[in-house]
Amino acid sequence: MPLTRHKALRWVARLCEIDRDTLGERWTTSHWLHDLPGKWELSRVATAHGVVQGFAVASRKANAVHIHRVGVDTPARGKGLGAALVGSVANAAEATGGALLSLKVDARNHPAIALYQALGFATVQSVGDQLLMHAVSHTVVTAAATRVAERAARSTR
Ligand SMILES: CC(C)(COP(=O)(O)OP(=O)(O)OC[C@H]1O[C@@H](n2cnc3c(N)ncnc32)[C@H](O)[C@@H]1OP(=O)(O)O)[C@@H](O)C(=O)NCCC(=O)NCCS
Repeated sequence: MPLTRHKALRWVARLCEIDRDTLGERWTTSHWLHDLPGKWELSRVATAHGVVQGFAVASRKANAVHIHRVGVDTPARGKGLGAALVGSVANAAEATGGALLSLKVDARNHPAIALYQALGFATVQSVGDQLLMHAVSHTVVTAAATRVAERAARSTR
């Protein structure tokens, strides 16, 4: 579901908790609530039984959609939620005509890099210990939908 400003305010403690092991700058309440172009239309949050399990925060930057932060609660990892959240941001970008998606990831963050590569992102630049990755929103929508379908097929076998 969309991560609106209202939901971010309501769930900020839980968002910070899930985000605690993200490498790099620690996000505070002001980071979560900071208004950016398109942020509240593009960002996504996933819940189970009313409890936040994961998020993807994105905004418009020039002609691209930049993904600032993705996180999934530790027990919920490895079940396709990260891919679904990034796919949902790509879907929202597609709904407004499609866009280049960009993100930066720590080069030591192998699970995150594996996730982004599985969704069609490729490294376009390496700056210090950060990789800049790009993908076209349509590619990410298709890759995420394929992974959801594959998981569903595996679970019914
Ligand atoms: C990165 C992160 C969001 C992945 O979320 P997730 O829900 O576990 O990811 P998914 O289950 O959707 O995985 C999708 C694909 O990513 C890859 N992947 C994800 N975690 C992986 C891991 N630990 N090792 C190898 N590949 C991995 C796989 O290709 C996987 O597809 P598969 O399950 O069909 O093999 C999660 O590990 C996380 O929250 N990490 C801490 C926060 C963070 O580092 N965020 C990124 C900052 S830019």
